[in-house]
Amino acid sequence: MNNPHMTLGLLLSPASSHIAGWRHKDAISNAGAEFEDILQNAQAAEDAKLDFVFLADELCAPEGDAEILSRDPVIYRFEPLTLLAALAVRTQKIGLVATQTTTYNEPYHIARKFASLDQLSRGRIGWNLVTSYVEAEARNFSQSEHLKYADRYERANEFLQVALGLWDSWDDDAFILDKKSGRYFDPEKMHVLDHHGEHFDVRGPLNVLRSPQGRPVQVQAGSSEAGRSLAGNYAEVVFTAQNTLEKALEFRTDIKDRAEQAGRGRDSVKVVAGVQPIIGASMEEAEKKYRHMQELIHPVIGLTRLSQLLGFDVTSLPLDEPLPEVIPETNSYQSRQKLIVEAARRDNLTIRELYLQVVSSYGHRVVVGTAESVAEELAEWFTAGAVDGYILSPTYLPDGFDDFKDLVLPILKDKGMFRTEYSGNTFREHLGLDRPERGDFHAENAAKSLA
Ligand SMILES: Cc1cc2nc3c(=O)[nH]c(=O)nc-3n(C[C@H](O)[C@H](O)[C@H](O)COP(=O)(O)O)c2cc1C
Repeated sequence: MNNPHMTLGLLLSPASSHIAGWRHKDAISNAGAEFEDILQNAQAAEDAKLDFVFLADELCAPEGDAEILSRDPVIYRFEPLTLLAALAVRTQKIGLVATQTTTYNEPYHIARKFASLDQLSRGRIGWNLVTSYVEAEARNFSQSEHLKYADRYERANEFLQVALGLWDSWDDDAFILDKKSGRYFDPEKMHVLDHHGEHFDVRGPLNVLRSPQGRPVQVQAGSSEAGRSLAGNYAEVVFTAQNTLEKALEFRTDIKDRAEQAGRGRDSVKVVAGVQPIIGASMEEAEKKYRHMQELIHPVIGLTRLSQLLGFDVTSLPLDEPLPEVIPETNSYQSRQKLIVEAARRDNLTIRELYLQVVSSYGHRVVVGTAESVAEELAEWFTAGAVDGYILSPTYLPDGFDDFKDLVLPILKDKGMFRTEYSGNTFREHLGLDRPERGDFHAENAAKSLA
């Protein structure tokens, strides 16, 4: 199975995807604290026939000076799995993806929750596996220090082996419920994992039925060498931040090469890049909208967020000078640090210009223009093979997505680049991915990547 269309998702951000979007006069007034507001946006995405909605997550409120933090819109958010459960019963078709970290969880819990959600949603769930870039999370989980970068990925690798194994606990037809003989399940069709590894000892089996999708769709966000390696072996959707066509092309080609080397087809993984569209009736109007959004960014929060994304404190550096020559390697978010430093050097940006460019979209590509020019720019990367699609990260909701849905999407549909109707019912079907057979989770590669 393959999918000729773009894969499109919508980032459902609690306040807004632009750091100051919540301040816009038309943004949802309570910054996403009301379930019905979030639901309306998910339903709008479903009306537009998008592949999925996406929930990012962090396991802490940001740490620091409360005076500065009082300007930060990501101070609260719904716990994603709880929110997905509610969205699952109020939507019918759209895929539902939630972020969960492997650093502060146990695989049995995660496998069980996603398997249950896949049942509840009748096959529409995806797990965005992250390793936690926010070091402050450690202090909510009885740790004085965040795990080191390489250790986080090593743990993630084994964590995923366990989850994949647990999702294979039962054959599809294991539960016979034979009233006559009194046999509830066929013992031949139960598979006990019995995993013993470096980080986890997990017996299994999972006490949830096999997923309607075989297993939830494996999404991954992580673009460093370690992230790419994990993605090549297992990810079915890779969420990435890319700012130039050349880099995006290199990244997608690399992920597909790795998937192929791991014995999976090139089409078994979709690479989707974050994009923030800003649409106006004319180019001038779009640029005016963009300028207005940028003016809403308070410098204090701009610098604080830039420091967080860089893993390097720039808050006391001169605003109108470039970044220092040497930025030390971070234990936090290596791929994003690389992306930001490259952008700063490439475009000769001062720190002020850099925070304005980067924090508005958290480093994702910003496309400003008319509906036609935005559609054209998105189509260009897709046609060039630089992406399989996008995760839309509108400045604020609902207008940011409504503009895209009403103005840009019809153009992409006319070009034959996006569906006009859902042709399947599960998230896997929207993506054009096959339902996996029980037991095909690439155990050999698992062993290789753990070696
Ligand atoms: C597009 C993208 C989205 C991400 N979303 C989250 C998130 O919601 N929560 C989180 O803790 N980490 C998130 N991450 C962080 C990754 O899991 C990982 O910790 C980080 O990217 C460092 O790995 P890397 O250098 O391999 O990219 C995201 C990463 C990327 C690239």
